[in-house]
Amino acid sequence: VHGSAGDIADISLAELGHARIEWAERSMPVLRLVRERFAETRPLAGLRLAACMHVTAETGALMRTLLAGGAEIALAASNPLSTQDEAAAALVATGLTVYARNGVDRAGYYAHINAALDIEPELVLDDGCDLVNTLHVERTALVPGVRGGCEPTTSGVIRLRRMAADGALAFPMVAVNDSDTKRLFDNRYGTGQSTMDALLRSTNTLLAGRTVVVAGYGACGVGVAERARGLGAQVVVTEVNPTRALDAALQGYRVLPMAQAAPLGDVFVTVTGNRDVLRAEHFAVMRDGAVLANAGHFDVEIDVAALAELAVAKQARVRQQCDEYLLADGRRLLLVAEGRVANLAAAEGHPAAVMDMAFAEQALTTAWLAATYADLAPGVLDVPERIDAEVARLKLASMGIRTDVLSDAQQEYSRSWRLGS
Ligand code: ADE
Repeated sequence: VHGSAGDIADISLAELGHARIEWAERSMPVLRLVRERFAETRPLAGLRLAACMHVTAETGALMRTLLAGGAEIALAASNPLSTQDEAAAALVATGLTVYARNGVDRAGYYAHINAALDIEPELVLDDGCDLVNTLHVERTALVPGVRGGCEPTTSGVIRLRRMAADGALAFPMVAVNDSDTKRLFDNRYGTGQSTMDALLRSTNTLLAGRTVVVAGYGACGVGVAERARGLGAQVVVTEVNPTRALDAALQGYRVLPMAQAAPLGDVFVTVTGNRDVLRAEHFAVMRDGAVLANAGHFDVEIDVAALAELAVAKQARVRQQCDEYLLADGRRLLLVAEGRVANLAAAEGHPAAVMDMAFAEQALTTAWLAATYADLAPGVLDVPERIDAEVARLKLASMGIRTDVLSDAQQEYSRSWRLGS
């Protein structure tokens, strides 16, 4: 089967894309198992699915799984800079309709999302909530046909909860981000490692002995701080949430308001899910050569417009995915990937072995939604516990790790409130 090209950069990259997807799949044993099951049971047979995701090799492996389940799929990119053009080409050759080119502008980005929605989806897979938002704002005629969907990122879930609180969300959306197997591994180890990868590829800066300021100590911030410390950096954490700030302090990190951290940092990483975390007053006091990177989903965490305004000159691409801003007093600030999600734009996103869990979970949850949608109310739902535990169990099995099981007496003990010492 051949999908329609939609809008991609170059179909001749398909062979390279296949090789990349197969490389990723080597590290995705749980997703491979789900694909085998899907090929037998066809839980998505005949269903139309619109996806807005980072178009990477790992996403390619997920798309192949959903195809094996019988879905008809239109895929748009969830970020113009994360698109791997070879993965887009391979997916067209595999039978999807793909709207994704690296580097498209904002108008092209939304044109792609709209084109993917033309499939008139029964199921949606989002990443950042732009597709679900477009459905509810511009394409309302399609909304009644949607059974439900998945959202795997913190920033997207925050938006979905705002929609639900407003009474605006018209179908069930599963907050895959909040499940244990996503948040504990993807956000922590995936974002942690791939953000270091982005800093190194874009600047090759030394981290040992340097001060790395991590803004936001959610699951992603925990991972970034941990990995930066592992590379020998002194880590400063900034937070607004008292429990998280306390957690960071007891982990041994220095916790400061950004106003105090700004003059100390050699490297800044924003992972808050909110806007204007690094802004003019901070740029004004930063060290010469400070590196600024955002690993949050949207490019709103670093006020790039304010940085551009403050600068007297900009040297674009002083290195790959690194722009240098010269300030009036001679200091230079280095911005990674234009302030867009650095771990995907300046590196390759989370490693496949981590995406294995999140994507197996999304495939299983999509099949569950397809079957049970009639019993579900609109709103933000949790991943069924059974699926979350199943994915963890399968991942452990794939790693050859065995665990203890409770004895009968232990099971009884944990069920009974009468039994004590
Ligand atoms: N989000 C984070 N890392 C990713 C990857 N490698 N592929 C798709 N989406 C991602």
